[in-house]
Amino acid sequence: MTKGNMIIKNASELVTCSGFNTKRGKEMSDLNVIHDGAVVIEEGVISAIGSTWDIFSSFAKDNFIVVDAGGRAVLPGFVDPHTHFVFGGDRAREFQWKLRGDSYMEIMRKGGGIVNTVKATRKASKEELVESGKKRLDSMLSFGVTTVEGKSGYGLDLDTEIKQLEAMIELDEIHPVDVVRTYLGAHAVPPEFQGRGDEYINFIIEDVLPVVSEKGLAEFCDIFCEENVFSAQQSSKLLEKAKTMGMGLKIHADEIVPLGGAELAARLGAVSADHLLHASDRGIKAMAESGVIATLLPGTAFSLKKDYARARFMIDSGLSVALATDQNPGTFCSESIALVFALASLYMNMSTEETLTALTINAAAALGRAGTIGSIDKGKKGDLVVLGPHPTHTCRTAQE
Ligand code: NIG
Ligand code: FE
Repeated sequence: MTKGNMIIKNASELVTCSGFNTKRGKEMSDLNVIHDGAVVIEEGVISAIGSTWDIFSSFAKDNFIVVDAGGRAVLPGFVDPHTHFVFGGDRAREFQWKLRGDSYMEIMRKGGGIVNTVKATRKASKEELVESGKKRLDSMLSFGVTTVEGKSGYGLDLDTEIKQLEAMIELDEIHPVDVVRTYLGAHAVPPEFQGRGDEYINFIIEDVLPVVSEKGLAEFCDIFCEENVFSAQQSSKLLEKAKTMGMGLKIHADEIVPLGGAELAARLGAVSADHLLHASDRGIKAMAESGVIATLLPGTAFSLKKDYARARFMIDSGLSVALATDQNPGTFCSESIALVFALASLYMNMSTEETLTALTINAAAALGRAGTIGSIDKGKKGDLVVLGPHPTHTCRTAQE
């Protein structure tokens, strides 16, 4: 972590992932690598890129900190575009239930799952959420993550949802990792609305969404569109409302059963549809046509022992695929980009180039930020990763 102006030199491969837009299909293989590369960062913004020779013969080095990458590869900082990293308590006990063979939904029906974390998060103070959130951000940074998306959804009531989102605002201010906020009030039906899902959606629309939107507490609105959670009809109603308030849309779609989430995301023009383990061919085609990004979460499929999302088919169908950890207390309690990388390569048949694109420029696009982060391009933020023995060295320069 270094402040001010910086030159990074002697990168054996400067993997730029260059681009200002999401990459689809075959474009995902294009990384634009500069051999023996160097990057110049001024006031936190990339101002020049080239070979080390070219940069050093044309650039005055006074007032720059020079970092020698020593022949290592240099990449854009990773972007993790789907996490639930701000929560109270833990669900370690439920792991034993899972080992006994209980499914995710069975655990939820027994009072475990999301609602269990809701109880702990309601009890936690904002300071406690900031403290535990900070540790998780530290871990993310050690994996080379420089921007992360964080969702609410463990409060469900107005006050706790606001508390979670405000904790993320504070974390964004105090921690070098940038935090993008998503409102996920429709993560589960809370106990006080048990059996009254429609009323809960109305409560969100009338009492919570206007506050979240007016106070600028979240940029995106998300919903867990799933059998026995929220229907496609309820999801459509909430997301259409959020859209009129200027929020970007995301959907937890087709994770456990095919419910038409991918089709819905396409119809509403969502920025991304996430999970998609059971997305239909028609849904995938519709997403490709309307430019919805597929954010895939292989760590969750691994942990739930489910079949992985059909990344190969999606990319071959011209879709734009992003990858994320889905860090959360239940289905994948890890910040490991390295594991996500390995799972995507080994079990989803994504090439190394496609996986890198999915964790950088496409992940940035899934947060509406392809213009400012996710690649090493002139004018973008100086968020870089020098690959090396773990922990990865993450370089960030202060932006005035
Ligand atoms: O993306 N599927 C719904 N939400 C999270 C899990 C949240 C939890 O179990 O606490 C997910 O996997
Ligand atoms: Fe999730």
